[in-house]
Amino acid sequence: MPTRDIATLLEALPYIREFHGKTVVIKYGGAAMSEPALKEEFARDVVLLKYVGMNPVVVHGGGPEITSYMKRLDLPVEFVDGLRVSDAETVEIAKMVLVGKVNKDIVLLINRHGTPAVGMCGDDGLLFRATRQPSPSGQDIGFVGRIERIDVDLLNRIAEHYIPVVASVGADREGHSYNINADDAAGAVASALSAYKIMFLTDVPGWLRDPDDPDSVISEAGAPLVEAALTTGYAGGQPVAGGMRPKLQACLDAIHGGVSYAHIVDGRVPHSLLLELFTDAGMGTKIGPGE
Ligand SMILES: Nc1ncnc2c1ncn2[C@@H]1O[C@H](COP(=O)(O)OP(=O)(O)OP(=O)(O)O)[C@@H](O)[C@H]1O
Ligand SMILES: [Mg+2]
Repeated sequence: MPTRDIATLLEALPYIREFHGKTVVIKYGGAAMSEPALKEEFARDVVLLKYVGMNPVVVHGGGPEITSYMKRLDLPVEFVDGLRVSDAETVEIAKMVLVGKVNKDIVLLINRHGTPAVGMCGDDGLLFRATRQPSPSGQDIGFVGRIERIDVDLLNRIAEHYIPVVASVGADREGHSYNINADDAAGAVASALSAYKIMFLTDVPGWLRDPDDPDSVISEAGAPLVEAALTTGYAGGQPVAGGMRPKLQACLDAIHGGVSYAHIVDGRVPHSLLLELFTDAGMGTKIGPGE
């Protein structure tokens, strides 16, 4: 092994020691979930985390796949405030695609690298109970839910020996299924598991000071700064908008729920998970409880 590789391994040692036995929740989305080479590398990285002694738990959505199946069936696709309007037929398809297809594709990919994965959704072991949630502007958007109650008993047992892969779908008390935002679901799972870290894989280099400038990554921030950015804006700018908003809100919920650190990393970069976790330079945004 060249000396360069040994140096990398040694650089990782203090991190491996720090993370040993700890849980990391990974919200899987964006290009890392659609591009074949990135998918393969993601699966390998997750298995590597397990082998170095961490407990990885994957939570995923799958918006683009749901849209593609809706189109194949000639059904209308409609969004309000960035949320999918979900009538009974839409949520039926969302459930079929997320639980039956996307979830199992991820399980199969992970299985090929040495540690078996177990797929589940909010219904399995009563992981989530969902409740209907209107859009932020108050419109009824159908079967779009938020997590009302979470029970991680089964998830914890699975995580002892396998890699859990959770589809963000759950049902209410009456048994109606809901599509749940995967960022929210990941935040709730991380809090309930008392995870050490939560990591969001996305298609930007991290949380950006200026959404149009990919070089403006905020590499570290404390919860109070994130809170201010969501309400009054970052350093005099606009309040954070778009897909970054639910992500930062989920980071904040996780930190308030006892998770030590939340990370937002670029899933388009191969091995971004490992680079953020095990190198001194890191990449993306790291959010902690402090200032
Ligand atoms: N300040 C900001 N920093 C970074 N991205 C921002 C910011 N404000 C808005 N965004 C938008 O948020 C998007 C990321 O969220 P998005 O929901 O699109 O991706 P995702 O959650 O990773 O994927 P998916 O929702 O498909 O699982 C970016 O592509 C960007 O357009
Ligand atoms: Mg999103």
